[in-house]
Amino acid sequence: MTTRRTFLAAAAAGTAFAGTTRTFRYSEIETRIARRDFRGITKEDLGTPALMVDRALLERNLSHMSGHCRDTGISLRAHCKIHKSVDIAQRQVALGSLGICCATIAECELMVGAGIRNVLHTCQPAGKNKIWRAVELAAQDPTFMVVADDPLTVDLLDQAAAARRIKMTLLPDIYAGLTRHGMAPGDPGVALAKRIDSSKNLRLGGLMAYSGVASHTHGWETRREQSRKDVTPMIETAAACRKAGLNTAILTGGSTGTYNIDGEIGLTELQAGSFVFMDTAYMKIGGKSDATRYGDFQPSLTVLTTVISRNHPNQATIDAGNKAMLRPTDQVKDRPDMVIENQGAEYGILRWKDGDELKLGQRLELYTSNLDMTTNCYDRYYVCDGENVVDVWPIMGRSGAVQR
Ligand SMILES: Cc1ncc(COP(=O)(O)O)c(C=O)c1O
Repeated sequence: MTTRRTFLAAAAAGTAFAGTTRTFRYSEIETRIARRDFRGITKEDLGTPALMVDRALLERNLSHMSGHCRDTGISLRAHCKIHKSVDIAQRQVALGSLGICCATIAECELMVGAGIRNVLHTCQPAGKNKIWRAVELAAQDPTFMVVADDPLTVDLLDQAAAARRIKMTLLPDIYAGLTRHGMAPGDPGVALAKRIDSSKNLRLGGLMAYSGVASHTHGWETRREQSRKDVTPMIETAAACRKAGLNTAILTGGSTGTYNIDGEIGLTELQAGSFVFMDTAYMKIGGKSDATRYGDFQPSLTVLTTVISRNHPNQATIDAGNKAMLRPTDQVKDRPDMVIENQGAEYGILRWKDGDELKLGQRLELYTSNLDMTTNCYDRYYVCDGENVVDVWPIMGRSGAVQR
């Protein structure tokens, strides 16, 4: 029971909550986390905004994807750009992922440094800094691979690999509908593959085609058509490469949206990423059996936020704003009726017409609109079983860069 004396003592310690008898100091929680002693820590104890991972839903997503790959014969090399977490990558590898895909050279350094083998860098390293870091990683781990969509990159990597006295593996990145990257399919793609193959210090590992347009196309049949249209030119380029005696063992691409489509088109492996957490953009694309909702994977990631002002009817202010990457397209968990607005760096506004009023200090959870952007803001995941925090996993630090 909270007496006036215990309340005042708690208040002096900065931890008083009317009606609260437990007095966890935040610093104690930090010490406990450092000791990995999570007993008794609940969501209520955490500072907000903070990232929550529902352990059961995450595990369901991971096992659904690995079960699909096992059953259909396509391999998985899961993309880590969404989670930037060694803990999650290790779980994916334990469940059968061949290795891990990375979007940035710093992600590659994190994963290779953590001992994860068969890492594929799905963005070509450009400029001296990234060329050298890529070659250093290949020297550290010969299973590390990168893609290239330009002969200049091939030549620079060949020279850097020669200077480092190693041989490294490259895959031509073939255009698949996204103008941000990719060498043209057909003769230019075959020429790039030949250039890699004939470079003394490089080896050809196969080809990549990532169809980012198909991934978020609404409607499963339309998505299937889009993916076929975007990826088939790479499959044909691979056939021409094979005819020319070139190695095409790896044909990689695909996404969460097309995971149950790309095997039939001819990819040998998937680089899907978002399926671990899911975001509001993905939840809307529709699945094979349900056109209204993409229910193959469950939303396992939320931003925990607190109501910090309640002075107007049917409106509440929360402590997640622009700095927490709040978007009007985010959704409040269990309150689909609520509309979200940005109200500044540290503030968001929730509005609703009918239904329960929110209370000052109340906790809510938000589904985010863009996983990569959200996870990039935080430095840890709180892994939860219901209200209980059962683990804390670090997210890759930024070390001076906006994103790494
Ligand atoms: C090159 C590449 N491959 C794979 C993916 C993973 O796609 P998703 O998160 O949609 O599964 C992405 C995502 O942006 C990507 O850029």
